[in-house]
Amino acid sequence: MARVAAVVPAGGSGVRVGRRTPKQFLLLRGVPILTATVRHFVTHPAIEAVVVAAPVGQVERARRVLGPLARNRSLAVVAGGITRQESVWRAMQAVSPDVEVIVVHDAVRPFVTRRLIDAVLRAVREGGAAICALPIAETVKRVREDLVEATLDRSGLWAVQTPQAFRAALLREAHDKARRDGVVGTDDAMLVERLGHPVTVVRGSEENVKITTVADLRRARTGGRR
Ligand code: C5P
Repeated sequence: MARVAAVVPAGGSGVRVGRRTPKQFLLLRGVPILTATVRHFVTHPAIEAVVVAAPVGQVERARRVLGPLARNRSLAVVAGGITRQESVWRAMQAVSPDVEVIVVHDAVRPFVTRRLIDAVLRAVREGGAAICALPIAETVKRVREDLVEATLDRSGLWAVQTPQAFRAALLREAHDKARRDGVVGTDDAMLVERLGHPVTVVRGSEENVKITTVADLRRARTGGRR
């Protein structure tokens, strides 16, 4: 069995939900979203350590919120960066060099399941990089200044989620190269793709939503699904 650690970027300021409190600290059925998310990883039997990247200035708050989870598993909180990518990079620096696989998961996706984590961990054993995603249901257009520029062919387009799992050396190499090249990606797989390395896709879940807007939060609180 490979040694596995989880990295949870939670360094966003959450301005899109329109509150001063970053969304990862907002409560979902009485539990901070961050805690609900991290719990899936600290209780996973194959994951030996979890590193969370919190917003600069909220590191102590994150430690306090996550305190009750830290009892049985190595759980560290570091200061995140300006971008998600920078937050993942910083958290990765706190992962032991002996860890062979790193699974990255957004703090604002609390409905991740054991099944999804297992699916990406299984797929990463084969190819070294695995993500979960779902085929896009809507028609997708490129729009500029309220005018349609183009309609994209949606067959073959997938909406990408986390968790994403990578051989640790591959993820480190991908991030280091992106930093050298001044590239900022919206997910980690994109940086691995830049190396020319294949990325395996496993089926994500409709429930594994990202809480980005007030409407997402309301839906999550009422148990409603998209
Ligand atoms: O909204 P976005 O896609 O950037 O957020 C995805 C995840 O990345 C969230 O969990 C958010 O807290 C995290 N993030 C981060 N550091 C940033 C921006 C976002 O860790 N600077």
